[in-house]
Amino acid sequence: MKLLITGSNGFVAGSIIAQAKGTWEVHGVSRSENPPNEPAVYYHLLDLLDTEGLTNLFGEIRPDAVIHTAAMANIDVCQVNQEMAERVNAGITSTISRLCSELGIKLVFCSTDTVFDGIKGDYTETDAPQAVNFYAETKINAEQIVLSASSKNVVARLALVMGLPVIGRGNSFLADMINKLGKGVQIPFPANEIRTPVDVITLGSALIELAGNTFGGIIHLSGSTKINRYEMGLEIAKTLGYPEDMILSTNSNAMSGRAPRANDASMDNSLARKTLKTPMLTLAEGLDLTLNFKS
Ligand SMILES: NC(=O)c1ccc[n+]([C@@H]2O[C@H](COP(=O)([O-])OP(=O)(O)OC[C@H]3O[C@@H](n4cnc5c(N)ncnc54)[C@H](OP(=O)(O)O)[C@@H]3O)[C@@H](O)[C@H]2O)c1
Repeated sequence: MKLLITGSNGFVAGSIIAQAKGTWEVHGVSRSENPPNEPAVYYHLLDLLDTEGLTNLFGEIRPDAVIHTAAMANIDVCQVNQEMAERVNAGITSTISRLCSELGIKLVFCSTDTVFDGIKGDYTETDAPQAVNFYAETKINAEQIVLSASSKNVVARLALVMGLPVIGRGNSFLADMINKLGKGVQIPFPANEIRTPVDVITLGSALIELAGNTFGGIIHLSGSTKINRYEMGLEIAKTLGYPEDMILSTNSNAMSGRAPRANDASMDNSLARKTLKTPMLTLAEGLDLTLNFKS
């Protein structure tokens, strides 16, 4: 069985590739230099905005499933580059969705807890999304494209992803945090943002499962601990053996020049716990798993 992973140099993709390569023939597509020393993986270089190139790639590989992680994932960059954000996050998803439908391929799309406005919290799959920033708007548009293309497609809404990069560089706040704490730099974390963080290893495993099983529709992939980001920073610092005063409390919605953030974007993971073999872990369990993971 062949699995195609878009955004293969990204943070989430690294975990998927490391865990899928024993059981799937893994193909990764990225527009930047591929990681060295990954002999069991077929890497393809392509800007996904190149629709003809993408069509040819699908024809060449003929994957059984696609996990689409590639995105403009920086909320503040999307807010000031709206045309490109829409082209990348919704436009590329539309092309991939069409190709998957034409070739009968299951598509697992990586969406986000940020699709919610953060007023209610504990969001379930039946709650209506409501964007508070442009990144969320592009993801909501993409979700609708994926869901209307085929009932076997999956919209996986990812909570805040916590962990160390497994392959490649990865956009990891934990790696950044360890680096800064090691240099004695204090780190601000927003206390207003309540999340249900998921570790990157659990997430990779859950996405692989969804690529290979019969589930279709929306599913929330979130951890089992609901916590604000400041308290999360404190818990991680404590686990790593650093004093509490290295973590500072901020309010992300009080900072100028930034896109608005959802306050309580916590997600209910009951469906994932019922549907998947991959267990949804607490923050402490997830941290332990990612710090000790060997691929
Ligand atoms: N990380 C989180 O906390 C989080 C939370 C919720 C949802 N998500 C979603 O989960 C997915 C994965 O997130 P991540 O943290 O792994 O993001 P990431 O590390 O930023 O990876 C995204 C990848 O997409 C690639 N990409 C962007 N535009 C492309 C294009 N035109 N052609 C080819 N590749 C392109 C980037 O390639 P380059 O390296 O070449 O730029 C990058 O490697 C995203 O869809 C994100 O929205 C993430």
